[in-house]
Amino acid sequence: MKKIAVMTSGGDAPGMNAAIRAVVRKGIYEGLEVSGIYNGYQGLMDGKIEPLWAGSVGDIIQRGGTMLRSSRCPEFKTPEGREKGLRQLRHHGIEGLVVIGGDGSFRGALELSRAGFPCVGVPGTIDNDINGTDYTLGFDTALNTVIDAIDKIRDTATSHERTFIIEVMGRDAGDLALWAGVAGGAETILIPERPHDPAEIVNRLRQGTDRGKKHSILIVAEGVMTAQELAGKLMDVAGIETRVSVLGHIQRGGTPSGRDRVLASRFGARAVEALIAGRAGVAVGMRDHTVIDYPLTEVFDERENKDLALFDLSKELSI
Ligand code: ADP
Ligand code: F6P
Repeated sequence: MKKIAVMTSGGDAPGMNAAIRAVVRKGIYEGLEVSGIYNGYQGLMDGKIEPLWAGSVGDIIQRGGTMLRSSRCPEFKTPEGREKGLRQLRHHGIEGLVVIGGDGSFRGALELSRAGFPCVGVPGTIDNDINGTDYTLGFDTALNTVIDAIDKIRDTATSHERTFIIEVMGRDAGDLALWAGVAGGAETILIPERPHDPAEIVNRLRQGTDRGKKHSILIVAEGVMTAQELAGKLMDVAGIETRVSVLGHIQRGGTPSGRDRVLASRFGARAVEALIAGRAGVAVGMRDHTVIDYPLTEVFDERENKDLALFDLSKELSI
């Protein structure tokens, strides 16, 4: 293998730049040429491919977002779209591809691998919802962004003795809501993986007030319902007035944490090693403090959220 390429795809995540840097520098270190594909699969189909040098990825390790930019590209889900991409890869003499993204991006990488083109996936998403790896790039940074927001909201919640509902990203996965809720001492956490009972939420709020709590924080993952909907329910069911805060895309930006930068460096390097060793159609990940690569197909097994014990703990600690 002489020439590889790297791209970012799907929702961006802090640490993607650090991973691009690692792929480029490790590739060059190993004697490869490395190109960057801009704007995800859309850019691949359009041939937005340029060579990168060690200096091209200087001064990005600390930056959020992705210097290669990203996209959501429905056309790539079609065989015709993927054939356009494959033609571009062949045209540019690229023999291996590192795709940094979430599970949707990994589906694209798996399809390319099945078509005979060597691909390696690097998990980059704040959702932490990739099977087979304990952590994804961006999760730690986003978690700390949410915790910072909770702490600030707690100040004003206490001053006014209010109940706040904070809506956190996560359509299908509750990791961010759960971890942030536990770290921020939230009274109630609603995640897509667990059912919720409005009566129980009301009881917990009342119990808290009865024992003298000055405020309450509820965290809701966007996949459960909007914070505004939850506020409406609490008002309808029990006449409880709340304030709502939707954190939105703030969670996707910002300078990556130290953990995410180190993870990105290790993931990027491992992805290049896997390509050189001929292990295509794999994802890299971190399992029990060890960097691994494993078949991309495992990503699409039914998701096992290993952190659900944390959900039960959060209830025990927020009495
Ligand atoms: P993420 O990678 O963050 O999960 P998306 O789900 O939007 O984000 O996926 C990113 C891109 O991956 C999509 O816009 C599409 O181009 C590609 N993709 C998603 N699903 C498939 C699929 N089944 N086959 C091929 N490509 C796909
Ligand atoms: O997958 C990352 C994520 O931030 C999800 O948490 C969220 O539901 C989604 O992307 C938002 O996507 P978009 O930026 O396209 O609105």
